[in-house]
Amino acid sequence: MRHFSILGISGSLRAASYNTAALRVAQESVGEGVHMTIADLSAIPLYNDDVRLEGLPLSVLSLGEQIASADAVMIATPEYNYSIPGVLKNAIDWLSKIEKQPFDGKPMAILGASMGPWGTARSQYDLRKVFVFLNAHLLNHPEIMIASAHARFDAEGNMTDEKTHEMIAAQVAALQEWAMRLRD
Ligand code: FNR
Repeated sequence: MRHFSILGISGSLRAASYNTAALRVAQESVGEGVHMTIADLSAIPLYNDDVRLEGLPLSVLSLGEQIASADAVMIATPEYNYSIPGVLKNAIDWLSKIEKQPFDGKPMAILGASMGPWGTARSQYDLRKVFVFLNAHLLNHPEIMIASAHARFDAEGNMTDEKTHEMIAAQVAALQEWAMRLRD
C-alpha cells in the first residue's frame, strides 16, 4: 500500500498548547502506512506585502512545500476573541501568496481546543470561510470542538479524556478516507 502522509498545523506557539497536544494525539492515532508530522509556525514573520514583493520568506516557502507534498492537512486552531488566532491567520495569508497556492484542492480537517465552553466553534467556522476562498476540500464530519480543554489534558499536555481521544482518532480515519475519495 502506498504511504499516506498527513501534515498537522497548530495555531498555537505555546509549548504546552492544548491544540498542539491534540495533534500529537492524532499523530499517535494514525493507522499502519500513515505518517503524520507537525509543522512549526514559529519562524513565519508578520505578513508584509513589501517583503512579499521582494520574494517570499524561506520559512513560508518551506511550509508551503510541506503542505503541497502532504496527502492531507489537519489544522488544530485555538480561539482568540471568538475567532482565528493571528499566528494562524498570518501564516495562511503568507501561504495564500505562493504562486501554486498549496491549499488548492487539498483534503483537510480542522479541530480545536479551547478553555471556553464552545471549544473553538467560532474560530473553526471562521477558518472554514477562509478555506472556501482558498479552495481547500474540508472534511465536514466528525467536527471536533474540545471545550474546557484544561480539564481534558494534564500539565504535561497528555490527553486524559478517552472520549476526546476516540473522536480525534475517528477524525484522522475520516480524513484519510476523504482524501482517498477525492483522489479517485
Ligand atoms: C483566549 N482564550 C479564549 N478561549 C475561548 O474559548 N474563546 C475565546 O474567544 C478566547 N479568547 C482568547 C484570547 C486570547 C488573546 C487568549 C490568549 C486566549 C483562551 C484559550 O482557549 C486558551 O488560552 C487556550 O489554551 C489556547 O489554546 P492553546 O494555546 O492551549 O492551544
